[in-house]
Amino acid sequence: MNKKRVVVLISGRGSNLAALIADAGMLGAEGSKASGAGESYEIVGVVSNKADAGGLQLATDAGIATRTLDHKAFSSRDAFDHALTETVAAFSPDLVVLAGFMRILGAPFVSAFAGKLINIHPSLLPAFPGLDTHARALAAGCNFAGCTVHFVTPVLDDGPIIAQATVPILPEDTPSALAARVLEQEHVVLPQAVRDFCAARLVVEGQRVCVNREL
Ligand code: GRF
Repeated sequence: MNKKRVVVLISGRGSNLAALIADAGMLGAEGSKASGAGESYEIVGVVSNKADAGGLQLATDAGIATRTLDHKAFSSRDAFDHALTETVAAFSPDLVVLAGFMRILGAPFVSAFAGKLINIHPSLLPAFPGLDTHARALAAGCNFAGCTVHFVTPVLDDGPIIAQATVPILPEDTPSALAARVLEQEHVVLPQAVRDFCAARLVVEGQRVCVNREL
């Protein structure tokens, strides 16, 4: 089976990218081959809007091509969006993964990759779209928090939900303690969602996504 071509967009340390690199078995000869199921895809490119994003080095170490597009170097949001679309399209991706990419994408980018653009968000959507999700979950008195992988639409942190994972909120929790507990789950559900997408196991019906694990 031909491996699906995955492009990952990042802005920072890239721990979710690292989980995908491991899952795809791209750590090199010494690296542990994680699940093996990740053989269905390869990461062909990593794009960052920040030159100092730690994830760029992770990608380079795994032999993955990287590109940096500094949004501040563009005269407008549209100009950045256009350049980003071209940069990503040049990799001919089957799937584009937003893994901690901290820019809001314009409608032209989203429509260029419609149906093959997914995002990991650190809350149980539709609760807490946007930033500061962990502090907001604590302030709201939630008993559970979690993360969501979803298809991207032009509406921020919206779109059909592919996978979620929950974690308990503990009495002594701080935003950073909760973030660390949620992040562990992000590293589980994101590779699983990418594998399911690449194996064509996801069926989207309106706002709902069914996962056909028999495939
Ligand atoms: C993750 O919590 C992700 O859900 C959020 O930004 C963070 C990125 O972390 N959108 P990393 O760069 O993958 O370590």
